[in-house]
Amino acid sequence: MTDDHQLRVGKIRNGTVIDHVTGGQALTVLAILDIDGSGGEEISVGMNVPSDRIGRKDILKIEGRELSQEEVDVLSLVAPDATINIVREYDVAEKHRVERPEEVVGVLSCPNANCITTEREPVESRFAVLADGVRCAYCGTLIREAFADRIEVE
Ligand code: CTP
Ligand code: ZN
Repeated sequence: MTDDHQLRVGKIRNGTVIDHVTGGQALTVLAILDIDGSGGEEISVGMNVPSDRIGRKDILKIEGRELSQEEVDVLSLVAPDATINIVREYDVAEKHRVERPEEVVGVLSCPNANCITTEREPVESRFAVLADGVRCAYCGTLIREAFADRIEVE
């Protein structure tokens, strides 16, 4: 019993488990969170594992970091069904869903090369989140629903 957690590969002690991520989106999720492993963080990623709820899912386990609701809400753009589990001393202490934010600031890059946010001005990108995509607040460029695979992180 005491070794339970050690026998179950991948259980984390303290941190965040992002579960039910749309299959194939795990690396985009890491990019959005600006996690690339170079900081030495302990991260486990499972991709396209079977899920009762969504067919195939990705799952990410980030040891030692509790993600805020603000951080995880941005993930709703690529992983609307994601469940966020905050783990403390091996137990799931909190479980919440991602919520679609009204706008996303400083995360996505505008695809319009002439947009003020992509020039060398100190202007953070700002996108309004619509039902079928996101719209740049500065130049109005619309990135439609199927934008997930074209998402560029600043
Ligand atoms: N988990 C983990 N390390 C822990 C505790 C939980 O990696 N110390 C993971 C589990 O493997 C699971 C997720 O966190 O993928 C959620 O855990 P739990 O709520 O116990 O699982 P379920 O009840 O199956 O979750 P859900 O109902 O959200 O599907
Ligand atoms: Zn723009």
